[in-house]
Amino acid sequence: MKKRILTGDRPTGPLHLGHYVGSVANRVKLQDEYDTFIIVADVQALTTNFDKPDRLRADVLNVALDNLACGLDPAKATLFIQSLVPQIAELTIIYSNFVTVQQLSHNPTIKAEAAQYNFGESMTYGFLGYPVSQAADITFCRAHLVPVGADQLPHIEQTRKIVRKFNATYAPVLIEPDAKVSDVPRLVGLDGNTKMSKSLGNAVYLSDSAEEVKRKVSSALTDPARIHPTDKGHPDVCVVYAYHRVFNPEGYSDIEQRCKAGTIGCVPCKKLLVEVLERFLGPIRARRAELETRPDTVWDILATGTKRAREEGEATMALVREAMKINYLPAGDLA
Ligand code: TRP
Repeated sequence: MKKRILTGDRPTGPLHLGHYVGSVANRVKLQDEYDTFIIVADVQALTTNFDKPDRLRADVLNVALDNLACGLDPAKATLFIQSLVPQIAELTIIYSNFVTVQQLSHNPTIKAEAAQYNFGESMTYGFLGYPVSQAADITFCRAHLVPVGADQLPHIEQTRKIVRKFNATYAPVLIEPDAKVSDVPRLVGLDGNTKMSKSLGNAVYLSDSAEEVKRKVSSALTDPARIHPTDKGHPDVCVVYAYHRVFNPEGYSDIEQRCKAGTIGCVPCKKLLVEVLERFLGPIRARRAELETRPDTVWDILATGTKRAREEGEATMALVREAMKINYLPAGDLA
């Protein structure tokens, strides 16, 4: 039997290049080899957006469209909506006994996000606890592998701890998953911030128009010490070079030489990057535009995937209830 993957995204807006290189590229590449589950993590999105429910429907669709446009094949992969899989919520409650408040408050990703959102004293129980819910996302279908960006590693580690504790306490029914970090674990933002992120406003979206990509690339941070095109540049501090490295595997070393020698200016270097990105984004944009004309197809894909996810969730819950000795009544008695 094929091993399983689970990974996914928070629907808080369309996906950007950082999502692509961190996780989406890997999930598309691995979908033949693994039985792949992709979660649209709307419950997790609610931990920061619970007071703005109006955007969720559009963003669930956005994230599904982005995944499909990047080549995720619904014939191979199960794309589903978190809030419609009740077993994930059940497991979250059970797992909450295996996690200390101390562990959660020291989670580096939680700390970084809390600072970014300026939570201070107003951090909710739901936000602090989302790694527990993410452990349920990963384990409800007994996934072996989780392709993610580097920022997610603390959550995978937390998941592994929960699984070990559950299995040791009751019976070894849960799978301890491995993380798979991509070769590009983290993509810098247009402004040079270490992370490309919607909330930092420094992202190139997979759905951006050619015009927007051009505008964003021309605004990207370059070597601030370079005033004239003939000045010798420092590619290591340049965002445009960082993107060439990722998206222009054939061209980047030539660009690096020429930048250091002062024989290519930032304007032509950016123009080259726009061309490279366009070759990559053009086909994604076209597939996305085509799918956008038939949203019903996308909702059908989500419905089919969610049904399969619920079946897997129920199979896991049967094992969990038995292991925990809370399988008081045969399922048939409650039908
Ligand atoms: N936390 C992930 C992010 O912010 C999204 C996510 C939710 C996820 N559940 C998951 C990722 C399970 C991997 C596995 O992008």
